Amino acid sequence: MQEQIKNINNLDELQALYTATFGKNGTMTVRLKEMKNLDNDARAALNRENQTLRELFKVRQTEIENAVLMAGLEKQKLDVSLNPMPENRGTLHPLTQSLTEIASILESFGYTMHTGPEIEDDWHNFTALNTPAHHPARDMQDTFFLPNGNVLRTQTSAIQIRAMESDGVPIKMFGIGSTYRKEMDATHSPMFHQIEGLYIDKNITMSDLIADIRAFLSRFFGIDNVELRIRPSYFPFTDPSIEVDLKWRGSKWLEIMGAGMVHPNVLRNCGIDPNVYQGFAFGFGWDRLAMLKYNLPDIRQFYDSDVRWLKNSGF
Ligand code: DAH
Repeated sequence: MQEQIKNINNLDELQALYTATFGKNGTMTVRLKEMKNLDNDARAALNRENQTLRELFKVRQTEIENAVLMAGLEKQKLDVSLNPMPENRGTLHPLTQSLTEIASILESFGYTMHTGPEIEDDWHNFTALNTPAHHPARDMQDTFFLPNGNVLRTQTSAIQIRAMESDGVPIKMFGIGSTYRKEMDATHSPMFHQIEGLYIDKNITMSDLIADIRAFLSRFFGIDNVELRIRPSYFPFTDPSIEVDLKWRGSKWLEIMGAGMVHPNVLRNCGIDPNVYQGFAFGFGWDRLAMLKYNLPDIRQFYDSDVRWLKNSGF
């Protein structure tokens, strides 16, 4: 019996033999029942045999369980010398990357991020921005009109109106988003993106505006002290209005953004008293900043959805 137990190699067989021995009518059970007929020595011997067999079963059970475990581990062995499968990692779109950077710079200056609807009404896209119906400045933007008179937002300036309406003053915000105009060539896409900044409080001046623009452009392009050229310009929603040029790679001037002191009419349209509060606004092309930063010649590449371009451009 002892040999038999030692030679068993699987738990089912062991269990069967255990039942045949210690089960209800098992050989040992039957013998134990008749123990009373035995003399003292024989009883003691039977007790020992019973004890020994039970222990043997237990030991063999542990041995078999360990063997099964080891065989499993053996099969699962990791071969760390194998080459890893090539990883197909995605990359963030350059616009997304530049947005993360732009937002973190502006947020570090205390501007909070706002968004707004891409289908805008006439009030937020034009009228509240001091561009009422038939104002000649409407021609500056080739607008997509919807049949109900709404428009595809032509400028993120609409977001500053919504922000002032909802949050009031003082306010320091930036708006980001898609904008739409009927134009298309290497530097214009019918859908593009703008970033808009607005800071209204009691003592905000043009020099605060220029300081923030300078600090922002220096940080974004990683240039110690950017060279800027400030030109007078015209936007209906600012007065005075300026355009800012940036000296690019030490040689040519690039027109980079529009800005100005927010026109009193715009403040009034948002329920703000221009005799108490004033401030500045600025707007620039998010795509244009990204094109300059990553040295991309054609804005349309942003929207081609060509994964090879994304992969190979090393963003
Ligand atoms: N909305 C202007 C545009 O799309 C850009 C702009 C100019 C925004 C001056 C401003 C600003 O906030 O002050 O051409």
